[in-house]
Amino acid sequence: LPLSQIINLYDFELLARKSLARPAWNYYSSGSDDELGLRENLDVYSRVWLIPRILVDVSQIEFRTTILGFPSAAPFYMTATALGRLGHPEGEISLTRAAGAEGIIHMLPTLSSCSLDEMTGARVEGQTQFFQLYVNRDRDVTRRIIKQAEQRGCKALFITVDAPALGHREKDMRTKFVDEPPTEMKGKAVKRDQGAARAIGSFIDPGLSWKDLAWFRSVTSLPLVLKGVQCAADAVLAARHGVAGIVLSNHGGRQLETARSGLEILPDVVAALDAYYATEKQPSGPRLEVFVDGGVRRATDIVKALALGAKAIGIGRPFLYANHGYGQRGVEKAIQILKDELQSVMMLLGAPDIKAIVRDMVDASSLKMH
Ligand code: FNR
Repeated sequence: LPLSQIINLYDFELLARKSLARPAWNYYSSGSDDELGLRENLDVYSRVWLIPRILVDVSQIEFRTTILGFPSAAPFYMTATALGRLGHPEGEISLTRAAGAEGIIHMLPTLSSCSLDEMTGARVEGQTQFFQLYVNRDRDVTRRIIKQAEQRGCKALFITVDAPALGHREKDMRTKFVDEPPTEMKGKAVKRDQGAARAIGSFIDPGLSWKDLAWFRSVTSLPLVLKGVQCAADAVLAARHGVAGIVLSNHGGRQLETARSGLEILPDVVAALDAYYATEKQPSGPRLEVFVDGGVRRATDIVKALALGAKAIGIGRPFLYANHGYGQRGVEKAIQILKDELQSVMMLLGAPDIKAIVRDMVDASSLKMH
């Protein structure tokens, strides 16, 4: 299909389902167990309704924003997804080039197919890259990875905290992993008989805990973000520990099956943080930024999360599918589609800029009734 005939993000997925090699499709698309969490990530957006305001001058729409203080052309970013080369020979390089060309931030994964040098070398002038960290049992290795990410110009560290064990992704487990292991695993024993995730994820430290945050702080001055926060109590703990941000996420439905989707817990998290910052006499640092990922495929999804208090939204699979079909051009097109949708959704909503997208513009009364 010519790229000009692609009109939404689902089109890329439909094509990828047909043309991706089975092991790659199984790894990219799978969720845990019965995939209820995966399905819920998509369904949840259909339970929030938009309430537009009329007679607002929307002749100029501005959706540029900042994420952790770094400029972004839109209120969404490309989240970390491992093994980019399963879908396209350029892997994370074309992903990051597309993000750079479109002015959005890319979170580079620890378990990339391309090396850190390749990914950061592909950066264009003024482009921001963050780094997603899987914490190795061997803290010297972890320290080395953090230092490299920092030296190569990554601007924030997103520590994945929802993977002390790997989710039980059965589609993936039925597939033998035959591909190149990610650069981070070079020279290590790779268990290949139960899918990609098990082949690459064995080093992750299940002993990681809140007290390790002080150690991260001692190793790096990069802003720290916890990726995979799943309840209000942990959001408040994160604020107490002075992190710069949290990502509300169930890891694309790939970790704990039936964990709530990020959007569902967002209102509780924002309320708990409001209460924390209102009562705490000396909060540790400025208010943390709340990000959400999982199942975002439309600009309406994006504005719903923004209205409920998210600073920005992470998107994963659609970019992998676009990269598979068309490489960098495809990923750029995926980003452009979302920007075009955002332009018209914000006009229809009566919100000329991001700060005009407010809580009263959504009816979230059915969000949890399910
Ligand atoms: C992921 N995700 C992920 N997260 C992470 O912290 N480290 C990683 O290495 C990966 N790898 C990964 C691979 C693939 C194929 C997928 C689909 C996802 C999770 C990712 O960052 C994000 O939380 C979800 O992908 C968001 O959901 P959507 O947008 O894919 O629905």
